[in-house]
Amino acid sequence: MADRLDLLLGVVLMAGPVFGISSCSFDGHMGFFHFCNLTKIPQVLNTTEKLLLSFNYIRAITTTSFPRLEQLQLLEIGGQFTPLTVDKEAFRNLPNLRILDLGKNQIDFLHPDAFQGLFHLLELRLFACGLSDAVLRDGYFRNLISLIHLDLSYNQIGSLYLHSSFQELNSLKSLDFSFNQISILCEGELKPLQGKMLSLFRLKATNLYKGVSVDWEKCMNPFRNMWLETLDVSENGWTVAITGNFSNAIRGSQTSSLILTYHIMGSGFGFQNIKDPDENTFSGLDRSSVVRLDLSHGYIFSLNPRLFKTLKELKLLNLAYNKINRIADKAFYGLESLQILNISCNLLGELYNSNFDGLRSVAYIDLQKNHIGIIQDQTFRFLKELHTLDLRDNALKTISFIPNLLTIFLGGNKLVTLPNVNFKANYIHLSENRLENLADLYRLLQVSQLQTLILNQNRLSSCNPNHTPPGNHNLKHLLLGENMLQLAWETGFCWDVFKGLSHLQVLYLNNNYLNFLPPGLFSDLTALRGLSLNSNRLTVLSPGSLPASLEVLDISRNHLLSPDPGVFASLNFLDITHNEFICECELSTFIRWLNQTNVTLLGSPADINCMYPNSLLGVSLYSISMEDCDEEEVLKSLKFSLFILFTVTLTMFLMTILIVTKFRGFCFICYKAAQRLLCNDHPQGIEPDRYRYDAYFCFSSKDFEWVQNALLKHLDTQYSDQNRFHLCFEERDFLPGENHITNIQAAIWNSRKIICLVSRHFLRDGWCLEAFSYAQSRCLSDLSSVLIMVVIGSLSQYQLMKHQSIRGFVQKQQYLRWPEDVQDVGWFLKKLSQHILKKEKEKKENNRIQLQTIATIT
Ligand SMILES: *[C@@H]1O[C@H](CO)[C@@H](O)[C@H](O)[C@H]1NC(C)=O
Ligand SMILES: *[C@@H]1O[C@H](CO)[C@@H](O)[C@H](O)[C@H]1NC(C)=O
Ligand SMILES: *[C@@H]1O[C@H](CO)[C@@H](O)[C@H](O)[C@H]1NC(C)=O
Ligand SMILES: *[C@@H]1O[C@H](CO)[C@@H](O)[C@H](O)[C@H]1NC(C)=O
Ligand SMILES: *[C@@H]1O[C@H](CO)[C@@H](O)[C@H](O)[C@H]1NC(C)=O
Ligand SMILES: *[C@@H]1O[C@H](CO)[C@@H](O)[C@H](O)[C@H]1NC(C)=O
Repeated sequence: MADRLDLLLGVVLMAGPVFGISSCSFDGHMGFFHFCNLTKIPQVLNTTEKLLLSFNYIRAITTTSFPRLEQLQLLEIGGQFTPLTVDKEAFRNLPNLRILDLGKNQIDFLHPDAFQGLFHLLELRLFACGLSDAVLRDGYFRNLISLIHLDLSYNQIGSLYLHSSFQELNSLKSLDFSFNQISILCEGELKPLQGKMLSLFRLKATNLYKGVSVDWEKCMNPFRNMWLETLDVSENGWTVAITGNFSNAIRGSQTSSLILTYHIMGSGFGFQNIKDPDENTFSGLDRSSVVRLDLSHGYIFSLNPRLFKTLKELKLLNLAYNKINRIADKAFYGLESLQILNISCNLLGELYNSNFDGLRSVAYIDLQKNHIGIIQDQTFRFLKELHTLDLRDNALKTISFIPNLLTIFLGGNKLVTLPNVNFKANYIHLSENRLENLADLYRLLQVSQLQTLILNQNRLSSCNPNHTPPGNHNLKHLLLGENMLQLAWETGFCWDVFKGLSHLQVLYLNNNYLNFLPPGLFSDLTALRGLSLNSNRLTVLSPGSLPASLEVLDISRNHLLSPDPGVFASLNFLDITHNEFICECELSTFIRWLNQTNVTLLGSPADINCMYPNSLLGVSLYSISMEDCDEEEVLKSLKFSLFILFTVTLTMFLMTILIVTKFRGFCFICYKAAQRLLCNDHPQGIEPDRYRYDAYFCFSSKDFEWVQNALLKHLDTQYSDQNRFHLCFEERDFLPGENHITNIQAAIWNSRKIICLVSRHFLRDGWCLEAFSYAQSRCLSDLSSVLIMVVIGSLSQYQLMKHQSIRGFVQKQQYLRWPEDVQDVGWFLKKLSQHILKKEKEKKENNRIQLQTIATIT
């Protein structure tokens, strides 16, 4: 389970280095000499067990090449860059050799007695050595009484005429002749193998029987009297006729597993002239006890009636990657033992009630990657043993046909809602659909046996109140990544969706636009061990919000500013890369924690970076010194400033008393005068403004110069006495040392209007977008349009609409565009001023004013 968890959360635990040994060296037991420019066998100690000599310039191996190496078990000497000759009894001094690899050599000369003396050899690799038929015909392998596996693939063997000594190779189990050019194989040639049981006989890509006309009367059964566990005749370009003739010819020979992949049987899509296999094609296999038949990667278009009628013992039928579009009635007739049916990656568009008739033992049907849009209700009802149905990547819109199964794959379909869930499954896979309402999630969680529910890449976002909390005691894994749960939870409802999931161990909430975690969301998840919150927009994790049992947390790619290490107390693994740390003194506890924690931090330390202040942008938290932030230092400076403050206050107080007593009369006159002046300036009737600023200008710091010249200089009081607005902007008014988010929030709540200057830079600036969202949330709570959006530069609607928060705004409200013509600027500024001055009560009227520059988006 722990492994699974790690795997699920993408934890890669680095194993130690695989090879401790460097090239061209020898450690007493193993010699590792790849690419060492050797021209002859190196002299190694008699303790050597493995000797790897591939990729050198060795030209010859003779009886004396090797010293006596009694311990040597593995010798690899393949891929020499020069032609190789192998002399008589070349390996005589290696009496205990188990594996000999000579593959990919250009063997110019191979003595017929080259392998003599290797009585313990189990495996001989002679692939791609340019060998001809002679190697089989002339007894090169005689006396290799232990030989199990002989690899002769990729040679120039044209005929499999075997030397009689093969008869004596009693251990032989596996022969590989793939990628030779063997056009014909008849009964006489393999005679020495008769009576043997082989686990593997490979004739893949040999062009066997292709393009030759075989007289089967004469040729007879090449595998007569043999038992083959796996016979691989794939990639030979067999048509229906060849396959039919071959299966007739080998009638009676046992073949548990027949591999016929990459065939050319079938008419394909849109052709009629080539035959699909029919009931005669495999009828010759009736007495061969075929258990597995692999017909994947071909052109079968139609599964004809009674196609497999003789294959009574077949358990696994693979028809993947054909062009199957039609399943005839009784196509699977006779497959009484079939357990796994694989029709994935075909062209099925619909399924009918009768399609799977006769499959009375089938347990697993794989129908992935077809185009199935509709399935008749009774299609799977009578398959009593069926427990797994894979319908991923089809075009389903409803699921009423699903019978009671244990495992259901429905990912990658077009499901919008699941009105009548009536499953008894313990595994449901529904990712990449179009589910939108959390009602479906609540319903699925009611499936009491459910252990794993996969719902990532849907559109879960809407929530109507009044759901019954699920209380599922079996659910262990819940995958909800790549939905839009933020939208659901920000309504204030559906916060109880995880109530009662007391056995949940792994929860994925990645990529859900979350900018907060509803309080108590995880309070019932007492067994939770792994949680992914990757790629959300969380700025804080409050203590106690995560379950105490949590071991693995992925909170990378969020907006965490200054996390509290206490939150991570229970963890073993943590990924906190790609956040937006504010590298100021507040962060020093976290940085210290990072340096000494026992929690394994995932991801690269170089991705735990400062986002702010700008001078530290991109700097790793590990390389930051927080010495100046020591508490003692802080305390010292605090004491000092208190002292100064006290002294100054005392002095001022004494001075005031002195002045007041000495110049009492004069003071009174001054006071009166001042009162009069003030009252005149502020005639009664104007309500005091509760805002500190008239407007908060939010823009990207990269635009500062421009904004200053174009707007601030003409509007802000501090730039000119003629201006009348108290504006707020980051560069001047944000409190240094304060949390950036806090600053933004303060600016938003203390300003009457918020003016977002949306430029290209703005759209790339996370803080700006963040501020925009906050401003919008104030609009919601004030029920007013305090947010004014001014688009600067030639941004297309598409560019604006890409950003979710901005999209929401422009769909509902009007926005301003900075005028292109300089002449209009003065006028624009006047209009903008009016907008700033406008009180919220006048909002309705406001909407009626039509500016030439206002664009309305519908
Ligand atoms: C083998 O020879 C090549 C070319 O002479 C040389 O670059 C390479 O370093 C040599 N390798 C060893 C392991 O000596
Ligand atoms: C290895 O060689 C040493 C002498 O060179 C000899 O004493 C020892 O018996 C040999 N060991 C084996 C296993 O042959
Ligand atoms: C199949 O066998 C029949 C009878 O031996 C023969 O006439 C026919 O040519 C064979 N077809 C192929 C493609 O080998
Ligand atoms: C069906 O075949 C496809 C393609 O070879 C493979 O990916 C899939 O795992 C198979 N399904 C089963 C159940 O073996
Ligand atoms: C990390 O801890 C070590 C001692 O464990 C200390 O020497 C080092 O200065 C610390 N680094 C930081 C950045 O705190
Ligand atoms: C880390 O583990 C060591 C030994 O297991 C322990 O002594 C130390 O207190 C642990 N440190 C923390 C921060 O938990």
